[in-house]
Amino acid sequence: MAIDRPVTAPERGDAQERESGVGRARKVPFAIDFYRSAVGKKYVMAVSGIILMGYVFAHMVGNLKLYLGAEQMNHYAEFLRTLLEPIFPYSGALWLMRLVLLAAVILHIHASYSLTMMNRRARPVRYQSKRDYIAADFAARTMRWTGVIVLLFIVFHLLDLTFGPANPDFQAGKPYENTVASFQRVWVSLFYILANLALGVHLYHGAWSLFQSMGWNRRRFNAWRRYFAVGFAAIIVAGNVSFPIAVLAGVIS
Ligand code: HEM
Repeated sequence: MAIDRPVTAPERGDAQERESGVGRARKVPFAIDFYRSAVGKKYVMAVSGIILMGYVFAHMVGNLKLYLGAEQMNHYAEFLRTLLEPIFPYSGALWLMRLVLLAAVILHIHASYSLTMMNRRARPVRYQSKRDYIAADFAARTMRWTGVIVLLFIVFHLLDLTFGPANPDFQAGKPYENTVASFQRVWVSLFYILANLALGVHLYHGAWSLFQSMGWNRRRFNAWRRYFAVGFAAIIVAGNVSFPIAVLAGVIS
């Protein structure tokens, strides 16, 4: 076919360029290019993990209001809905936080999935010898399963306490009453306790390894990393598990 203009290098298909792919390489934004690398995915996992840890901590502290009674708890929930009014409309700031949270969850899951796929491609044959299970402890080996449990828990939790279909006594705008009614069902309380134990194991390994992913891993700080990971996971689990136990014991009613 005759071309009525100077022929470009990609059209000529220079052998060298064809082999290296240089002539055809499309320019992609730095952020996407970075995310395609293993280091980029680990970084995204760490940053989204930090956001989720911040939420889980703030949520647990906020839920301590359950011990102060219905008025305090429901007032706190309303405070979140009127946050930054009138700069934002009613619930506006809350929706912004929900979007950030949702983006963090999606990125966290996507990065972990594609890192697993990258690792599989790099090692298509599974390890034949026994793995070094001291270096890769229980928490590290079960990250995928504890992650899946936490995800399933969040779906149930939203249907139970935010939207209501999983909670027969649900009343809009009354989180205290909804939580008490929900935890009075023993199977729900047991599920919350188990899911929060899984969350604790997940948080422990996540809080430990995020320092590695961010490059904050000086050897002499390792003991502090361990204290931080254990302490953070223990505080979240203790707080969250205490709520269903307190309802079942009649301390919160
Ligand atoms: C026993 C522990 C927990 C209790 C008592 C609890 C309680 C609640 C309540 C009452 C709500 C509804 C708030 C409202 O409508 O104003 C809620 C929402 C929510 N909870 Fe929990 N929660 C617990 C643990 C968790 C955990 C471990 C996670 C995450 C891993 C989580 C994630 C969420 C999310 C994402 C929402 C929706 C927030 C929103 O859109 O406003 N919760 N929780």
